[in-house]
Amino acid sequence: MSPDRPSRPENILALAGAGEDGELSDGQESVWQEVVKRVDEVYSDLLRYESDLEAKNAELEEAQSFISSVIASVSDILAVCDAEGKILQANPAFVTLLGRSEAKLIGAPLPEVIVEEDRALARQFLHAGAPAGDCELRFSTASGPTDVMAINFSSRFDHTGRCVGAVLTGRPIGELRRAYQALHTAHLDLQHVQKKLIEQEKMASLGRLVAGVAHELNNPISFVYGNVHVLERYRKNLSNYFAEAEKLEDAAAAALRTKYRIEPILADLTPLIEGTLEGAHRISEIVKNLRRLSFNRAHEAQKIDVERIVAVAAQWAARSKKNQARIGVDVESGLTLWGNEGQIHQIVVNLIDNALDAVRGRVDGVVSVRAHALGGDVEIVVEDNGGGIPESAFDKMFEPFFTTKTVGEGTGLGLWISYSIAREHGGDIFAVNRPEGGAAFTLRLPVGG
Ligand SMILES: Nc1ncnc2c1ncn2[C@@H]1O[C@H](COP(=O)(O)OP(=O)(O)OP(=O)(O)O)[C@@H](O)[C@H]1O
Ligand SMILES: [Mg+2]
Repeated sequence: MSPDRPSRPENILALAGAGEDGELSDGQESVWQEVVKRVDEVYSDLLRYESDLEAKNAELEEAQSFISSVIASVSDILAVCDAEGKILQANPAFVTLLGRSEAKLIGAPLPEVIVEEDRALARQFLHAGAPAGDCELRFSTASGPTDVMAINFSSRFDHTGRCVGAVLTGRPIGELRRAYQALHTAHLDLQHVQKKLIEQEKMASLGRLVAGVAHELNNPISFVYGNVHVLERYRKNLSNYFAEAEKLEDAAAAALRTKYRIEPILADLTPLIEGTLEGAHRISEIVKNLRRLSFNRAHEAQKIDVERIVAVAAQWAARSKKNQARIGVDVESGLTLWGNEGQIHQIVVNLIDNALDAVRGRVDGVVSVRAHALGGDVEIVVEDNGGGIPESAFDKMFEPFFTTKTVGEGTGLGLWISYSIAREHGGDIFAVNRPEGGAAFTLRLPVGG
């Protein structure tokens, strides 16, 4: 201690210098007053600090309860992990999702609550210095894996900027996926229906066009028909005339007959007229078929025995095609439907006809006709083991006059007529190529007609 520095009193009483008798000098009293004043100031400072502290504490508690209430009310899952991936905090949504108590969850490594296949993926985001990122995970619960969740991992930093762990947030997307899938399916269905509607509209307009043309053709065909019959009568008369005149004619007349080739002309007339008649007959058959469609025959509906109609149609088709293919028939017994028997019969004949054409030339040609009930419909399926429908024919084969057969062999009306009749009955026809080869045509008709 330096000699010029006054020595410090041992305590406050010593500082105040109270004598043994307790009497205070004037100087000592002022020191006391100073002490009491300082104590007062310190005390009031203490009181102020205390009330400041209490206010801050109240604010802190309020902020904490605000944050807790926000975290508790979010429906997304949230978990806070430390740098080793151990769970430090989990919100109620996460606790509920996992179905474990919060106490058991805290301290558990996060990968432990993730299904095994997804753990490696989660670990990529949990190691120190891992980047923030999104992934899809499923969590394991007592009742099995959860729906797929869209998860986001973000890094967590302390006040010095050091990464101290990660925060995971997420929500289920399984439901969203299913909704998207349903939407996608609905969209495809809609596209299919739209295509079908356009197709139907196209067929309907073609139908109107063809029916109109058929109507217009009807008159000229009857002229041709009538005139050819008259021509045939005239031909007979002319032949008789020339046969009798030959006996009376002289050399000059005989030369004229040779010059104008009367004999070969008369001989040609018969096949020419017969050919014309045959052509006119074919045209009138086509027109008759087309015109039949322009009538609505729904009112002529009757109860049809499917087994019988299929058997008769198979017989007819086999007889007309003189094809060596085997025709197998398999019809659910007692199957009936309401419709125009003649027209439905025509469809089945057309389909079997086509199938027989498709297997022509094959020694192992088989055509099978099956019929069964399906919901409120009857399905008649005609299959063959021919070459199948060419890709280029798929879009057009139900259109009138579309054929891949040679001229005179097919008119391209069979499927169009069949399709139109089926639609008129509230049904449909569709075709596929069978994986094992050949085509399958399905006629679907409502039982009620
Ligand atoms: N079973 C089948 N296998 C392969 N192609 C088929 C089959 N059925 C129909 N087709 C195709 O569809 C086309 C149209 O058939 P559609 O019955 O309308 O006419 P067509 O048989 O050619 O002539 P029509 O029936 O008027 O005598 C056929 O030319 C053929 O190309
Ligand atoms: Mg045909």
